Amino acid sequence: MEIRTVSFIKSSPDLASCPGAGPPEYAFAGRSNVGKSSLLNLLVNMKNLAKTSSTPGKTKLINHYLVNNSWYLVDLPGYGFARAGKEARNSFLTSVGDYILRRETLACLFILIDCRHEPLRNDLAFIELAGTNEVPLAIVFTKTDKLSSTTLSRNIEVYRRSLSQSWEEPPPIFTTSSAQHAGREEILGFIEMANKNFYL
Ligand code: GTP
Ligand code: MG
Repeated sequence: MEIRTVSFIKSSPDLASCPGAGPPEYAFAGRSNVGKSSLLNLLVNMKNLAKTSSTPGKTKLINHYLVNNSWYLVDLPGYGFARAGKEARNSFLTSVGDYILRRETLACLFILIDCRHEPLRNDLAFIELAGTNEVPLAIVFTKTDKLSSTTLSRNIEVYRRSLSQSWEEPPPIFTTSSAQHAGREEILGFIEMANKNFYL
């Protein structure tokens, strides 16, 4: 899919403040620092549209970007940020949790996992929460430039096995490297198809 236009619409602290629901939305969730904002920039091919940082906890609000005047990319704050206090954790659960579970136009929630990590409890819990609430999901293994292809395949297989304990058919899986511009076409192709299904 060709990206013709991208415009930043709004940063919202909670679901009630989000832009009026209408077009299909594709949101990025995952631990802080996993590469959500970088993946958004990769997809739209703009280096600094969403702010990224090597320090976790950079994205603090729900950010809507309108693409091709017809669908939204949504950059979300991360979870599992060790230095975040209890208050920040609660606010994450309310704002992002609410958005994920109650945004009716959420066409797919991409849950990002650092491909170097073994399955972590809070990632699995988050996938489980979204899955059991019937949120349409896909999993993205990020930072693939950090691993050899053998280790990457092994890690993905470990993850698949872990997911198959609760999923009859695991969600679609993508691999990306924002550093090496890898995985862009696959995700854009998936979004293009999902956009068509959204209006069926
Ligand atoms: P929060 O907003 O804090 O939740 O983080 P985030 O998930 O949006 O992560 P962000 O995109 O800001 O990236 C975090 C760090 O990882 C930055 O230093 C990025 O440059 C780096 N990074 C992101 N994607 C990749 C990747 O594919 N490969 C490599 N090597 N580094 C990456
Ligand atoms: Mg971010």
